[in-house]
Amino acid sequence: MDSPVPDAPVRLLGIKDLPACQRLAEDRGWGREDHKWRFLFSVGDVYGIDDGNGELAGTVISTPYGKDVAAISMVLVAKRYERRGLGGRLMRHAMDNTETASLCLTATDYGRPLYERLGFRSVALCTAYTGVAEGLSKRGVSVPAEARDMPAIHELDSEVFGADRSEVVKGLPSFCESFRVVRHGHGIAGFAGAWKNEDRTPVGPVIAQDTETALTLVDEVTPPGPVRLDVDHRHPELIAWAEAHGLRPAFTTTIMEYGAPINGDPSRLYVPIAQALG
Ligand SMILES: CC(C)(COP(=O)(O)OP(=O)(O)OC[C@H]1O[C@@H](n2cnc3c(N)ncnc32)[C@H](O)[C@@H]1OP(=O)(O)O)[C@@H](O)C(=O)NCCC(=O)NCCS
Repeated sequence: MDSPVPDAPVRLLGIKDLPACQRLAEDRGWGREDHKWRFLFSVGDVYGIDDGNGELAGTVISTPYGKDVAAISMVLVAKRYERRGLGGRLMRHAMDNTETASLCLTATDYGRPLYERLGFRSVALCTAYTGVAEGLSKRGVSVPAEARDMPAIHELDSEVFGADRSEVVKGLPSFCESFRVVRHGHGIAGFAGAWKNEDRTPVGPVIAQDTETALTLVDEVTPPGPVRLDVDHRHPELIAWAEAHGLRPAFTTTIMEYGAPINGDPSRLYVPIAQALG
């Protein structure tokens, strides 16, 4: 017999709920992603529904960037409760409690129909390339970012993303294992990071004023060992780079938006920080 659907209200979770979030993620075949969850808890509002037996029935995170955009992530419902309205309840709660003009998210095939019904629009596809990158040139054009680069990083990030992500940007030097910039005159031509997620290193963010700088940064920030590169299909040159360096497509998601059109510049947003943060 089906377990009854939990009727507990959606509540704001705290870091002490992290182990239950991770058990829920594992229930859906996602990893524990400790480093990522902790960063999301530090910058976003994590909501969940208790199942009445000490576990969580579902979660959703809203990370607001000022008044303009919020990133929605970690939309998860325990397998035993799926297709009974909890995903919709969690999403509506996050949407009602987020006051930004727009929302963005990256949808799996499970989530996309739900988001479409809630009014989200598809804007692009994103393919995760994984593997061990071969033939990196490491020319040393970029340098490790320093505190003095942070104002320029913040300025370029806001202009390209279309919202003030200052809290997240401030956290990037410690979240990322490697965080580099290409300096240009008194400012920067671009910046990039790579961060450890379990046994793989996702590359991101990569934000740059032109493709040559972006590809240089990707090359120089990509570490040895298993990596992941989330490529927005609006950047075919990055797909070509991934394939030429031995990475292979693992899965594809859909980048979606809700509300006012986001006033960013996708042509300079090469790789997101993480799908959870845009
Ligand atoms: C995506 C996910 C969160 C959806 O959660 P959910 O609780 O199943 O979502 P809902 O029940 O609100 O809606 C899902 C479907 O069930 C239907 N549904 C809702 N209540 C129902 C009910 N009482 N009876 C029958 N169907 C129902 C909805 O209409 C919807 O239909 P669809 O499959 O045609 O889209 C869940 O499948 C999940 O955790 N997947 C794995 C992780 C994942 O991919 N997350 C998305 C990240 S972007």
